[in-house]
Amino acid sequence: MSPAGAGRRPLISGNWKMNLDHLEAIHAARDLGLRLQPADVAPVDVSVHPPFTDIRSVQSVLEGEGIPVALGAQNCAVEDSGAFTGEVSPVMLAKLHVEYVIVGHSERRAHFAETDAVVASKLRAVLRNGMAPICCVGETVDERDIGLTQERLTAQVTAALTGLPAEDVAAMVVAYEPVWAIGTGQAATPEDAQEACAWIRGVVAQVAGEEPATQVRIQYGGSVKADNTASLMACTDVDGLLVGGASLDAAQFTDIVRAASRGGR
Ligand code: PGA
Repeated sequence: MSPAGAGRRPLISGNWKMNLDHLEAIHAARDLGLRLQPADVAPVDVSVHPPFTDIRSVQSVLEGEGIPVALGAQNCAVEDSGAFTGEVSPVMLAKLHVEYVIVGHSERRAHFAETDAVVASKLRAVLRNGMAPICCVGETVDERDIGLTQERLTAQVTAALTGLPAEDVAAMVVAYEPVWAIGTGQAATPEDAQEACAWIRGVVAQVAGEEPATQVRIQYGGSVKADNTASLMACTDVDGLLVGGASLDAAQFTDIVRAASRGGR
Protein backbone atom coordinates (compact mmCIF):
# COMPACT_ATOMS: atom_id res chain seq x y z
CA MET A 1 0.00 0.00 0.00
CA SER A 2 2.98 2.32 0.36
CA PRO A 3 5.75 3.06 -2.12
CA ALA A 4 8.85 0.90 -1.61
CA GLY A 5 10.43 1.93 1.67
CA ALA A 6 8.57 5.27 1.65
CA GLY A 7 11.62 6.88 3.22
CA ARG A 8 11.44 4.69 6.29
CA ARG A 9 14.89 4.03 7.72
CA PRO A 10 15.30 0.32 8.41
CA LEU A 11 15.88 -0.81 12.00
CA ILE A 12 17.80 -4.01 12.71
CA SER A 13 17.34 -5.07 16.34
CA GLY A 14 19.10 -7.80 18.29
CA ASN A 15 16.98 -9.36 21.03
CA TRP A 16 19.41 -11.16 23.33
CA LYS A 17 16.57 -12.63 25.42
CA MET A 18 17.80 -14.20 28.70
CA ASN A 19 21.35 -14.75 27.46
CA LEU A 20 24.78 -13.21 28.23
CA ASP A 21 25.71 -12.07 31.74
CA HIS A 22 27.07 -8.54 32.07
CA LEU A 23 30.66 -9.56 31.38
CA GLU A 24 29.67 -11.53 28.29
CA ALA A 25 27.50 -8.59 27.24
CA ILE A 26 30.42 -6.16 27.50
CA HIS A 27 32.43 -8.49 25.31
CA ALA A 28 29.59 -8.86 22.77
CA ALA A 29 29.06 -5.09 22.53
CA ARG A 30 32.80 -4.45 22.06
CA ASP A 31 32.99 -7.19 19.44
CA LEU A 32 30.09 -5.61 17.56
CA GLY A 33 31.77 -2.21 17.78
CA LEU A 34 34.97 -3.60 16.27
CA ARG A 35 33.13 -5.28 13.40
CA LEU A 36 30.57 -2.67 12.37
CA GLN A 37 31.97 -0.19 9.88
CA PRO A 38 30.46 3.27 9.29
CA ALA A 39 29.23 2.10 5.86
CA ASP A 40 27.32 -0.77 7.49
CA VAL A 41 25.20 1.55 9.59
CA ALA A 42 24.94 4.50 7.19
CA PRO A 43 21.62 3.32 5.68
CA VAL A 44 20.15 1.47 8.70
CA ASP A 45 19.57 1.92 12.44
CA VAL A 46 20.78 -0.86 14.73
CA SER A 47 19.73 -1.64 18.30
CA VAL A 48 20.68 -4.30 20.85
CA HIS A 49 18.35 -5.45 23.64
CA PRO A 50 20.33 -7.01 26.51
CA PRO A 51 18.83 -8.36 29.75
CA PHE A 52 18.18 -5.68 32.41
CA THR A 53 21.28 -6.55 34.45
CA ASP A 54 23.48 -5.86 31.41
CA ILE A 55 22.00 -2.57 30.29
CA ARG A 56 24.23 -0.23 32.31
CA SER A 57 27.36 -2.11 31.24
CA VAL A 58 26.37 -2.13 27.57
CA GLN A 59 25.46 1.57 27.76
CA SER A 60 28.97 2.35 29.01
CA VAL A 61 30.58 0.39 26.18
CA LEU A 62 28.37 1.84 23.42
CA GLU A 63 28.73 5.43 24.63
CA GLY A 64 32.34 5.19 25.80
CA GLU A 65 33.53 3.68 22.53
CA GLY A 66 31.21 5.64 20.24
CA ILE A 67 29.60 2.50 18.81
CA PRO A 68 26.74 3.49 16.46
CA VAL A 69 24.23 1.11 18.00
CA ALA A 70 21.15 2.17 19.99
CA LEU A 71 20.44 0.65 23.37
CA GLY A 72 17.23 -1.30 23.81
CA ALA A 73 15.35 -3.23 26.48
CA GLN A 74 13.18 -6.35 26.23
CA ASN A 75 10.34 -5.30 28.54
CA CYS A 76 9.39 -2.72 31.15
CA ALA A 77 6.85 -2.04 33.87
CA VAL A 78 3.54 -0.31 33.22
CA GLU A 79 4.04 2.11 36.12
CA ASP A 80 6.80 4.69 36.50
CA SER A 81 7.50 3.91 40.18
CA GLY A 82 6.02 2.41 43.30
CA ALA A 83 5.40 -0.85 45.12
CA PHE A 84 5.92 -3.24 42.20
CA THR A 85 8.47 -5.73 43.49
CA GLY A 86 10.70 -7.10 40.79
CA GLU A 87 9.63 -4.70 38.05
CA VAL A 88 11.85 -2.31 36.10
CA SER A 89 10.49 1.18 35.48
CA PRO A 90 10.50 2.81 32.05
CA VAL A 91 11.84 5.93 33.81
CA MET A 92 14.92 3.94 34.84
CA LEU A 93 15.41 2.69 31.30
CA ALA A 94 15.12 6.17 29.82
CA LYS A 95 17.71 7.38 32.35
CA LEU A 96 20.15 4.79 30.92
CA HIS A 97 19.54 6.21 27.43
CA VAL A 98 17.49 3.24 26.30
CA GLU A 99 15.88 4.23 22.99
CA TYR A 100 13.76 1.18 22.09
CA VAL A 101 11.76 -1.15 24.31
CA ILE A 102 10.31 -4.43 23.04
CA VAL A 103 6.70 -4.75 24.19
CA GLY A 104 4.44 -7.78 23.94
CA HIS A 105 6.98 -10.30 22.70
CA SER A 106 5.21 -13.63 22.18
CA GLU A 107 7.35 -15.19 24.93
CA ARG A 108 6.00 -12.61 27.37
CA ARG A 109 2.46 -13.12 26.12
CA ALA A 110 2.79 -16.92 26.41
CA HIS A 111 4.90 -17.39 29.56
CA PHE A 112 4.00 -14.29 31.58
CA ALA A 113 0.33 -13.95 30.67
CA GLU A 114 0.69 -10.54 29.06
CA THR A 115 -2.68 -9.69 27.60
CA ASP A 116 -3.40 -7.20 24.84
CA ALA A 117 -4.46 -4.76 27.58
CA VAL A 118 -1.14 -5.11 29.43
CA VAL A 119 0.74 -4.71 26.16
CA ALA A 120 -1.21 -1.51 25.40
CA SER A 121 -0.36 -0.10 28.86
CA LYS A 122 3.34 -0.92 28.49
CA LEU A 123 3.39 0.67 25.07
CA ARG A 124 2.03 3.88 26.57
CA ALA A 125 4.55 3.71 29.43
CA VAL A 126 7.40 3.53 26.90
CA LEU A 127 6.04 6.43 24.85
CA ARG A 128 5.36 8.53 27.98
CA ASN A 129 9.03 8.24 28.81
CA GLY A 130 10.28 9.35 25.42
CA MET A 131 11.34 5.94 24.09
CA ALA A 132 10.10 4.02 21.05
CA PRO A 133 8.18 0.79 21.61
CA ILE A 134 8.79 -2.21 19.37
CA CYS A 135 5.36 -3.78 19.65
CA CYS A 136 5.37 -7.48 18.75
CA VAL A 137 2.40 -9.14 17.10
CA GLY A 138 2.01 -12.48 15.38
CA GLU A 139 -0.08 -15.58 15.03
CA THR A 140 0.54 -19.06 16.46
CA VAL A 141 0.82 -22.08 14.21
CA ASP A 142 -2.71 -23.18 15.17
CA GLU A 143 -4.14 -19.77 14.25
CA ARG A 144 -2.27 -19.87 10.96
CA ASP A 145 -3.47 -23.39 10.16
CA ILE A 146 -7.11 -22.39 10.46
CA GLY A 147 -6.68 -19.18 8.49
CA LEU A 148 -6.81 -16.76 11.41
CA THR A 149 -3.55 -14.88 10.75
CA GLN A 150 -5.08 -11.64 9.53
CA GLU A 151 -7.78 -11.66 12.20
CA ARG A 152 -5.17 -12.16 14.92
CA LEU A 153 -2.94 -9.38 13.59
CA THR A 154 -5.90 -7.02 13.33
CA ALA A 155 -6.93 -7.74 16.92
CA GLN A 156 -3.42 -7.31 18.35
CA VAL A 157 -2.60 -4.14 16.42
CA THR A 158 -5.99 -2.59 17.13
CA ALA A 159 -5.76 -3.33 20.86
CA ALA A 160 -2.25 -1.86 21.04
CA LEU A 161 -2.77 1.32 19.02
CA THR A 162 -6.35 2.44 19.54
CA GLY A 163 -6.42 5.92 21.05
CA LEU A 164 -2.75 6.75 20.50
CA PRO A 165 -1.91 10.12 18.93
CA ALA A 166 -0.86 9.85 15.28
CA GLU A 167 2.64 11.19 16.03
CA ASP A 168 3.24 8.44 18.62
CA VAL A 169 2.20 5.76 16.15
CA ALA A 170 4.44 7.27 13.47
CA ALA A 171 7.44 7.13 15.82
CA MET A 172 6.98 3.56 16.99
CA VAL A 173 7.90 0.19 15.56
CA VAL A 174 5.67 -2.85 15.06
CA ALA A 175 7.35 -6.25 14.77
CA TYR A 176 5.57 -9.01 12.88
CA GLU A 177 6.76 -12.15 14.62
CA PRO A 178 4.87 -15.29 13.64
CA VAL A 179 5.19 -17.48 16.74
CA TRP A 180 5.89 -20.59 14.64
CA ALA A 181 8.98 -18.93 13.15
CA ILE A 182 10.62 -17.90 16.44
CA GLY A 183 13.64 -20.01 17.31
CA THR A 184 12.56 -22.77 14.94
CA GLY A 185 14.88 -22.17 12.01
CA GLN A 186 11.74 -21.92 9.87
CA ALA A 187 11.52 -18.26 8.85
CA ALA A 188 8.48 -16.91 7.05
CA THR A 189 8.92 -16.68 3.29
CA PRO A 190 9.41 -13.14 1.98
CA GLU A 191 5.95 -13.46 0.38
CA ASP A 192 4.32 -14.34 3.71
CA ALA A 193 6.27 -11.66 5.58
CA GLN A 194 5.30 -9.03 3.00
CA GLU A 195 1.64 -10.03 3.07
CA ALA A 196 1.49 -9.88 6.87
CA CYS A 197 3.44 -6.61 7.14
CA ALA A 198 1.27 -4.98 4.46
CA TRP A 199 -1.80 -6.18 6.36
CA ILE A 200 -0.44 -4.67 9.59
CA ARG A 201 0.18 -1.37 7.81
CA GLY A 202 -3.39 -1.43 6.58
CA VAL A 203 -4.67 -1.96 10.12
CA VAL A 204 -2.48 0.91 11.37
CA ALA A 205 -4.05 3.11 8.68
CA GLN A 206 -7.54 2.20 9.84
CA VAL A 207 -6.77 2.70 13.52
CA ALA A 208 -4.44 5.73 13.41
CA GLY A 209 -4.69 7.20 9.90
CA GLU A 210 -2.85 7.00 6.58
CA GLU A 211 -0.01 9.35 7.54
CA PRO A 212 1.28 7.40 10.57
CA ALA A 213 0.75 4.15 8.64
CA THR A 214 3.18 5.39 6.01
CA GLN A 215 5.73 6.35 8.67
CA VAL A 216 5.53 3.48 11.19
CA ARG A 217 8.39 1.01 10.82
CA ILE A 218 7.39 -2.65 10.59
CA GLN A 219 10.01 -5.28 11.35
CA TYR A 220 9.90 -8.96 10.57
CA GLY A 221 11.19 -11.38 13.22
CA GLY A 222 11.55 -15.15 13.43
CA SER A 223 14.64 -17.19 12.46
CA VAL A 224 16.34 -14.29 10.70
CA LYS A 225 19.84 -15.21 9.53
CA ALA A 226 22.37 -13.52 7.25
CA ASP A 227 21.27 -15.67 4.32
CA ASN A 228 17.57 -14.74 4.46
CA THR A 229 18.10 -11.07 5.34
CA ALA A 230 18.32 -9.64 1.83
CA SER A 231 15.16 -11.34 0.57
CA LEU A 232 13.15 -10.25 3.63
CA MET A 233 14.48 -6.69 3.45
CA ALA A 234 13.55 -6.50 -0.23
CA CYS A 235 9.87 -6.61 0.77
CA THR A 236 8.12 -3.27 0.36
CA ASP A 237 6.54 -3.27 3.80
CA VAL A 238 9.39 -4.85 5.76
CA ASP A 239 11.35 -1.98 7.35
CA GLY A 240 13.72 -3.98 9.47
CA LEU A 241 14.33 -7.17 11.39
CA LEU A 242 14.02 -8.34 14.99
CA VAL A 243 16.74 -10.93 15.40
CA GLY A 244 16.93 -13.37 18.32
CA GLY A 245 19.42 -16.24 18.26
CA ALA A 246 21.60 -14.88 15.47
CA SER A 247 22.09 -11.58 17.33
CA LEU A 248 24.05 -13.28 20.14
CA ASP A 249 27.03 -13.73 17.89
CA ALA A 250 28.60 -10.41 16.87
CA ALA A 251 29.93 -11.82 13.60
CA GLN A 252 26.54 -13.20 12.55
CA PHE A 253 24.70 -10.05 13.62
CA THR A 254 27.19 -7.90 11.70
CA ASP A 255 26.57 -10.03 8.60
CA ILE A 256 22.82 -9.45 9.01
CA VAL A 257 23.30 -5.67 9.40
CA ARG A 258 25.54 -5.66 6.33
CA ALA A 259 23.10 -7.68 4.24
CA ALA A 260 20.29 -5.35 5.34
CA SER A 261 22.25 -2.21 4.56
CA ARG A 262 22.96 -3.53 1.06
CA GLY A 263 19.35 -4.59 0.74
CA GLY A 264 18.38 -2.06 -1.90
CA ARG A 265 16.09 0.01 0.33
P1 PGA B 1 14.82 -15.92 16.63
O1 PGA B 1 13.96 -15.00 17.63
O2 PGA B 1 15.56 -14.99 15.69
O3 PGA B 1 15.77 -16.67 17.51
O4 PGA B 1 13.86 -16.79 15.90
C1 PGA B 1 13.30 -13.85 17.19
C2 PGA B 1 12.61 -13.14 18.33
O5 PGA B 1 12.04 -13.82 19.19
O6 PGA B 1 12.61 -11.91 18.41
